Amino acid sequence: MSGTACVCQEIECREIEIDYNQLDKIIRDDYGGNKETMIMMMQAIQRVYRFLPEAALKYLSQVIDVPLTKIYEVATFYASFSLEPKGKHILTICTGTACHLRGSGGMVRHIAERMGIEPGKTTQDLKLTLETVNCVGACAVAPVAVMDEKYYPKATIATLNDFMDRLDAE
Ligand code: FES
Repeated sequence: MSGTACVCQEIECREIEIDYNQLDKIIRDDYGGNKETMIMMMQAIQRVYRFLPEAALKYLSQVIDVPLTKIYEVATFYASFSLEPKGKHILTICTGTACHLRGSGGMVRHIAERMGIEPGKTTQDLKLTLETVNCVGACAVAPVAVMDEKYYPKATIATLNDFMDRLDAE
């Protein structure tokens, strides 16, 4: 069984295919339908879709008999959950004090202009999500960029351009 769930964002309507068999495998097979493991189920669902689609959360709610409002409470409480589609790649720029003083604000603006997205947003083709963070604990090597969980100390515009060139070539 599969279905299409609308995940509209501001600019255009994006649709994704929900694989309910896969959801069943996560919810019933991997976690035995046990509502005590709801957060782990949500983490597993997010690993599949890179965010939490509404249709998947509704299905989870039905199967484990937890009100959808409770599931959304959890989804919005933990910063690691996203209710918006995320890109295949995540580029995070540290904008904490040390990084800001070494030009991370200009790096954010550069990426935003080149990719046409604001911080916290994802490109229309779902290739890239641009995020900012306050400090990643590496102030001595500021400014720091994190690309797909790999840290780039003393990042430069050239570092970022290399990354975005690779995205363009995909
Ligand atoms: S402010 Fe950027 S690593 Fe600390």
